[in-house]
Amino acid sequence: MKNLWRALKLVLPHRGMLVLYLVTAVGLAICNGLPLLLANAFLNWLQQKPPNPKDAVGIFIDDQLRAHFLSPAAYVYALCALTALCIVFKSLFDFFNNYIASWLAQRLRMEAMERVMRKLLMLDQPFFDKQKIGDMISRMVSDGDNLRKTVKIFLDFLQQPFMVAVLVSIAIYKNWLLFCLGAIGVPLVIFPLTRIIRTITRQTKRYQEKTANIAQAMVQNLSGMRIIHAYDAADKEADNFDHLSESLFRTGTRRNWSRAMQRPLTEMMLGVGMVAVMLFAGLKAGASEFDANSFLIFFAALALTFSPVRAMMGTLSELAEFLPSAERTFEILDVKPTIVDLPNAAVCPVLQKEIVFENVSFDYGRGMVLNNLNLTIHRGEKIGIVGRTGVGKSTLLALLLRFYDPTRGRILIDGADIKSVSLASLRAQMALVNQHPFLFHASVADNIRYGRPNATDDEVIEAARAAMIHDEIMQQPENYRTLCGERGGELFSGGQRQRIAVARAVLRNAPILLLDEATSALDAFSERRVQEALDQLVVSRTSLIVAHRLSTLRNVNRILVFAEGGGIEAMGTHQELLRTSPIYTLLWNQQQGMEGAESAVAQA
Ligand SMILES: Nc1ncnc2c1ncn2[C@@H]1O[C@H](COP(=O)(O)OP(=O)(O)OP(=O)(O)O)[C@@H](O)[C@H]1O
Ligand SMILES: [Mg+2]
Repeated sequence: MKNLWRALKLVLPHRGMLVLYLVTAVGLAICNGLPLLLANAFLNWLQQKPPNPKDAVGIFIDDQLRAHFLSPAAYVYALCALTALCIVFKSLFDFFNNYIASWLAQRLRMEAMERVMRKLLMLDQPFFDKQKIGDMISRMVSDGDNLRKTVKIFLDFLQQPFMVAVLVSIAIYKNWLLFCLGAIGVPLVIFPLTRIIRTITRQTKRYQEKTANIAQAMVQNLSGMRIIHAYDAADKEADNFDHLSESLFRTGTRRNWSRAMQRPLTEMMLGVGMVAVMLFAGLKAGASEFDANSFLIFFAALALTFSPVRAMMGTLSELAEFLPSAERTFEILDVKPTIVDLPNAAVCPVLQKEIVFENVSFDYGRGMVLNNLNLTIHRGEKIGIVGRTGVGKSTLLALLLRFYDPTRGRILIDGADIKSVSLASLRAQMALVNQHPFLFHASVADNIRYGRPNATDDEVIEAARAAMIHDEIMQQPENYRTLCGERGGELFSGGQRQRIAVARAVLRNAPILLLDEATSALDAFSERRVQEALDQLVVSRTSLIVAHRLSTLRNVNRILVFAEGGGIEAMGTHQELLRTSPIYTLLWNQQQGMEGAESAVAQA
């Protein structure tokens, strides 16, 4: 219920539309009920009978018509014209009511989707580490759409009570005792109906989770297509998908069972009332206070009431179905990120002296990755970072970018704890080229310009030249306007993508440069060229350079060697490390052997 209220509160900013909605709903209800009273007058006319002496409304209508329309034909014309008018207005109100409800629902769905996306973009890495992309997409697309349905259904629901009120008033006015008999089934059905609704809610939740699993499988299959084909796993993945989809079907069927029970149950309840009315009225046939025409109208009103009542009951079960979806949307809006600006976060000072890691420990929740790390990096220093795979090199950079907060210890920039400064001002000082360069579905120029959106075309070209990618971009048919494609995979090779990412970092022109295997996808020849570009880039900047190939660390001031278990094994220049660090010496000797082989192959 709380979430229904929350979904509906989204409507409040659109008060104007809501008022229009209510006006049309009332209009629709009145135009729906009025023809019944006119029909009563018409039946009396057919039988040339005066209105029932107890029917004040009937007498009023009859008097008015007779006063204004003197001839019998005019009387009939007037009755028909009034009925036609009611029908025309009813249709108009119906149209606008329906349109406004859909408009509101569509609008809210869109606003919710925008809010979810905005929220997601604000959320932090620890949140995303726990999420599946498919789940996120299904929350935004299918659950977002169900939020629209929830609102639409509720608005449709809101319109029914007006209908019921008008029709019930007519029925009660005609004969309240009979009406009570007619409504006899209502309390009988409430208990089973609430149980059904609860079951539907539960099954819908399960259905949504399974839909998210399917979305995840879709994302995975589409993005891993090459590997699937290369490993001849298409059949296996198709079977997996069938399995997920069958499971979704089973949950859906269980829900459909409950859903299908709801209408017959409502019908039965209404039927009981109907039969009770017939029985009672039949036994009292001929009683003077209740003429046949009035009874006919009463019966019509009661029957007409059934349709909105039926609709309302249906709505309840539909709400039970869609509300859990709205809840899933709200769940994202409610996530509280942990990596946030403090209430009065300062602006991060532009690095003048040093970056200090002070007793920094970190774990992702599965054991220590960094263990009591102490490190001081002076402004302008170039630090190489090496170590076996998985020891925490990328994690160190992630902590400096504040993708995560250290579990223990602090990171200081010129004495200011990076937790106390605003994220925007902290990250504005850094440019990152990471292990898996990501290109957006945009032109190459816009991809390079990403870190400095107002850079001119000339600056973009200059950055591309510096990253040694200009010539290859010019070879593309639309050169800098070439679209990079979803994952940038179609037009650019891994190495080219990496150089576009380097150009992006060049253009960003930030004082701190973080390179995480920035040349890992390059051959020895391009690597040397990009290395030259990077050497230029790092000259005036403080740089942390993670590298597997030690040869790329020729120009750094110090090299940090990570030990297994997240500590620093040694730190120093290349020459010093060859003397002091067994890990470094081992890595160096292994790579010397490999590079010797590489150059031999190159010469052959
Ligand atoms: N988002 C994450 N959630 C949980 N564990 C993670 C996450 N990212 C990394 N790890 C784990 O933390 C450890 C360090 O990872 P990290 O990426 O920092 O290693 P690395 O030194 O950069 O390795 P490589 O040289 O292969 O890039 C690894 O054991 C990895 O499994
Ligand atoms: Mg790494």
